[in-house]
Amino acid sequence: MNSTKSKMTLLSLLGFSLLAAVHSSMVKNCHPGCHCEVESFGLFDSFSLTRVYCRELGPGTTMPIPIPLDTAHLDLSSNAIGPLTDSMFTGPGYTTLVSLDLSDNHITKVSPSALCKLRYLDTLDLSHNLLQSLPSSCFSGLPLGEVDLSHNSFQEFDMDVFSTKVNGEPVSVDLSHNHLVSVTSTLHGKVLHIQTLNLSANRLSSVPSLAGLPLRYLNLDGNPIKELKEGAFAHLKDLVYLSISGLKELQQIWPSSFKGLQTLQVLDLSNNPNLKTLTPAVFSGLESLLELNLTSSGITSLPTDMLAHLPSIRSIMLGRNIHCWRTQKQKQFHPQMGQVPHDEVLNCNKEGIVL
Ligand SMILES: *[C@@H]1O[C@H](CO)[C@@H](O)[C@H](O)[C@H]1NC(C)=O
Ligand SMILES: *[C@@H]1O[C@H](CO)[C@@H](O)[C@H](O)[C@H]1NC(C)=O
Repeated sequence: MNSTKSKMTLLSLLGFSLLAAVHSSMVKNCHPGCHCEVESFGLFDSFSLTRVYCRELGPGTTMPIPIPLDTAHLDLSSNAIGPLTDSMFTGPGYTTLVSLDLSDNHITKVSPSALCKLRYLDTLDLSHNLLQSLPSSCFSGLPLGEVDLSHNSFQEFDMDVFSTKVNGEPVSVDLSHNHLVSVTSTLHGKVLHIQTLNLSANRLSSVPSLAGLPLRYLNLDGNPIKELKEGAFAHLKDLVYLSISGLKELQQIWPSSFKGLQTLQVLDLSNNPNLKTLTPAVFSGLESLLELNLTSSGITSLPTDMLAHLPSIRSIMLGRNIHCWRTQKQKQFHPQMGQVPHDEVLNCNKEGIVL
């Protein structure tokens, strides 16, 4: 009995060490300009995670910066780092990196093998640099789940650069705020596991053809696209969320532009002031659409028969604070005909929206 009790006391004491503990003082091999944190957890602190923050190290710093063994996260942002060379991320500690932050530097080039030793790298932040291109094999052998390439100077981008990454895990790619006029994927029948693609704030004048990418989220906000043509998204049958907002030049969406988007649930067409009319056939094929956002667009009324194309729609936002819902209008019970099938109508919190 007594021994059971003491065992339980011991177990509850051990329970405390299951909580994570963070030590930042006595990390071995922490470079003087960096701040290192070790978070340990598990019984007897058997697992640990080292984070190393080396922002703004100042001039005269030579790379590679020595980092503790088992470093998982390394922040090298804001260090005026120029081209990435083959020797910059080598040495003890680098091979275990899970995330690497290189944002806010002066990176103009990435040498083909600069990152190839980072065999566990999941998150790579190269945002706010001066990149115009990447060598085709630069992500070769990396597992990569999230890559931020926003705020660079890319004019053209070939998504194939992700085809050499290892494992079939999905990757999320941010290419917003570049100068992109073209995005291509020249895969020959192969599938690239990119699920989230952010192309907002670029110079795309048409919807890029992204065949072969099983995208679930696509953002095309703020591009100079004037019209959406029939079948523009035909290859994106897995898309769940599509944002086409803030397109100052968008004037026309042709019928069947969204054809093929059979799993799309959210369509954001807000902030498109020059988009003035929509015919019901624009919405054909959007079988799963739940939410349509037309806030601050030029659209002031909706065609009633659009509902025929939107069997799943729940909510439409229009103008400032105008919200419409689909409701079912129950027809009167008819003694001869019995219950007449109900009609679906659009109800808005303002009169005169539905034509
Ligand atoms: C896409 O990029 C825009 C602009 O940088 C940003 O506001 C938005 O949150 C991004 N979307 C996602 C899902 O990362
Ligand atoms: C609709 O778009 C507006 C403007 O972009 C945004 O502020 C709002 O949050 C969106 N509404 C929904 C429900 O997504």
